[in-house]
Amino acid sequence: MNLTLKIWRQDGPQDAGRFETHHVTDVSEDMSFLEMLDVLNEDLQGDAKEPVAFDSDCREGICGMCSLMINGMAHGPEVTTTCQLHMRSFKDGDEITIEPWRAAPFPVLRDLVVDRSSFDRIIQSGGYISVNTGAATEANNLPVRKEAADRAFDAATCIGCGACVAACPNASGMLFMGAKVTHLGELPQGQAERDARVVSMVNQHDFEGFGGCTNIGECAAACPKEIPLDVISQLNKDFRKAKKHA
Ligand code: SF4
Ligand code: FES
Repeated sequence: MNLTLKIWRQDGPQDAGRFETHHVTDVSEDMSFLEMLDVLNEDLQGDAKEPVAFDSDCREGICGMCSLMINGMAHGPEVTTTCQLHMRSFKDGDEITIEPWRAAPFPVLRDLVVDRSSFDRIIQSGGYISVNTGAATEANNLPVRKEAADRAFDAATCIGCGACVAACPNASGMLFMGAKVTHLGELPQGQAERDARVVSMVNQHDFEGFGGCTNIGECAAACPKEIPLDVISQLNKDFRKAKKHA
């Protein structure tokens, strides 16, 4: 395949940024989207030009680093991470627009790389269990209902990629936060700090400049881990209860 790429370039956080057009040739449909960008960067370096900065780490859909807006869709046209998106989802002659996440709490550092430490600060504010849960054998002795274990596990698959925020017109982080609150709130070990956790995380979320949820649902549609929208209902329920108990 031969492709035209319209790529966002930005020299630093203060730079206004602009789109640049590049052409890549001989792209195999078996390449991942990031491998296609690797080919572009090799070409650019061969021409003594600055390569395009983008994030990646595991390239296996686990770490959540590879956050790109592809043709206006977070992680592109499939329900997966950018690193697991393959070029067979495109066709010869396509023009592809590639941008970083666009959300004030995720400022652009360079080209396609954004700073997502606001998510880390939300987790630091309460997304953990600090009680002693014992060694693995003891933990297994603590009965957990199958439905609760499954729901906790499903919510725990959130990789913190930020696609939910990028897809949301309000730049809300509530799907991400709802996943964390549901994951810990379904388990007995998560009960001791349940009220404090949700209040603290919501406060930090708002402080970082994320918006509120208005039930649009773009977040769940863009989520590569298919975190369901109802974790936001759980978050709101927990928040209301915690405020009542306060
Ligand atoms: S909820 Fe989904 S889209 Fe949002 S950070 Fe987690 S994995 Fe990414
Ligand atoms: S690089 Fe780790 S999820 Fe894509």
